[in-house]
Amino acid sequence: MKIEFIPAVGVSEAPDALAVLVFEEGVLSAGAEDLDRATGGAVRRAIAASRFTGKSGQTLDLLAPNAIKAGRALIVGGGPGPEIAAETAESFAAHAYQALKLSGAEHLWLMLAGAAPDAVAQAAFGARLAAYRFDRYRTKDGEDKKPSIQRLSVVCVDPKAAKKLAAPLGGIADGIEFTRDLVSEPPNVLYPEEFARRVKKLEKLGLEVEILGEKEMKKLGMGALLGVGQGSERETQLVVVQWKGAKDKDAAPVAFVGKGVTFDTGGISLKPAEGMEDMKWDMGGAGAVAGLMCALASRKAKVNAVGILGLVENMPDGAAQRPGDIVTSYSGQTIEVLNTDAEGRLVLADALWYCQERFKPQFMIDLATLTGAIIVALGNDFAGLYANDEALAEKLLAASKAEKEGLWRMPLPAAYDKLIDSMAADVKNISGGRGGGSITAAMFLQRFTNGVPWVHLDIAGTAWRKPSVAPTSPDGATGYGVRLLNRLVADNYED
Ligand code: BES
Ligand code: MN
Ligand code: ZN
Repeated sequence: MKIEFIPAVGVSEAPDALAVLVFEEGVLSAGAEDLDRATGGAVRRAIAASRFTGKSGQTLDLLAPNAIKAGRALIVGGGPGPEIAAETAESFAAHAYQALKLSGAEHLWLMLAGAAPDAVAQAAFGARLAAYRFDRYRTKDGEDKKPSIQRLSVVCVDPKAAKKLAAPLGGIADGIEFTRDLVSEPPNVLYPEEFARRVKKLEKLGLEVEILGEKEMKKLGMGALLGVGQGSERETQLVVVQWKGAKDKDAAPVAFVGKGVTFDTGGISLKPAEGMEDMKWDMGGAGAVAGLMCALASRKAKVNAVGILGLVENMPDGAAQRPGDIVTSYSGQTIEVLNTDAEGRLVLADALWYCQERFKPQFMIDLATLTGAIIVALGNDFAGLYANDEALAEKLLAASKAEKEGLWRMPLPAAYDKLIDSMAADVKNISGGRGGGSITAAMFLQRFTNGVPWVHLDIAGTAWRKPSVAPTSPDGATGYGVRLLNRLVADNYED
């Protein structure tokens, strides 16, 4: 879909389809007033004839309205109003796109003459996120199943200003799309090496990408990560992505670490067949870190940032690790692997230690589809936030509020630490009890942070949503984490 900003002209000029905002209590935006006037009062009559109240996200379709060229006009609820806040504009554009994407209309005008340039830019961002589709493998879709909208014109007072403000948002959208593609790909296509190759291609944005293979990791002693991949035909990879955007290229970076299990069968502690296909998105943490690095580079963020991706496939096999195995992690701590399905923490143990040792970062934030238990605790609208640093946790909660990516703080109780003490090794990878499964997973990770300011985000419930719950995020991969962490960086860590 091509997106452009064009100077405010009347609704009569719209060639094909147009959308306008109406707020609660029937307050019409400038575009809606214009439409009402041009059509001899069709907007007010349509509202009176329906249950449309202007609540955010409601839509009302005017087909073949009188006296204008466009074949259809869409009225979209904007919530309280009458100012068009950036988030109102984003939601307006996304709802309009969703309502019209299969309508047959090819060219959509979003009437935003009453909006400030930042809101206009945010509308373009919302439409672009809404238009995301992963249909690479659908070869038989009929024309009626394919989106018809090819072109989106955002009609506004100052197209030049809007275009300028839209540029960095375009970079964030690139990052979100990159994450969504990675997460959506089937696991036969996206295995660790293929994931690494795709990240390597981001070098064209100015990122530095290093790929460590099994030989290098063995030399370093990354027994925890390597143990997970031992049963797979695919080679385990550790990918290091660097963005040096700060004035001082040697300033301590911010760091992000992602769990990238490209498929999680559970290993010898095999998962049940039902729903196992979902475990193709067990790389959602690494996918989000990759998308974030893409976003930071695309918008040339003034920060030094590091992304570390632990990429591995967890398979049962004659060579696979067994429950009861003891592995030596990169940190030197030995781990008793009592359940091979608690593999994400093994991946992160080595990736986190490597991160702090090599980069001495300001902080490390890991993202992982780590536990089913976080879904039991929080459902799908919130990721679990674990932090050893109050200030960092507060900044993340603020970013979560601003970007509407849900987060809920969870505890790291010192008293639970002993639950993962092992009789045979330094630590065991499951507590053995039923309670607090997401917390004990976080306690495990904490042992590999070496006291560096650290946050763990358990995104098992938020990386993938079906059915979708936001117009900006169609069914499937959400790209959760890219907006959140981009905002954290933009608001707190740039020159
Ligand atoms: N990848 C899973 C967690 C998961 C479950 C993500 C459901 C998304 C949806 C993880 O590797 C896992 O299997 N965790 C186990 C841990 C248990 C063995 C202690 C779990 O949650 O059951
Ligand atoms: Mn698992
Ligand atoms: Zn997993």
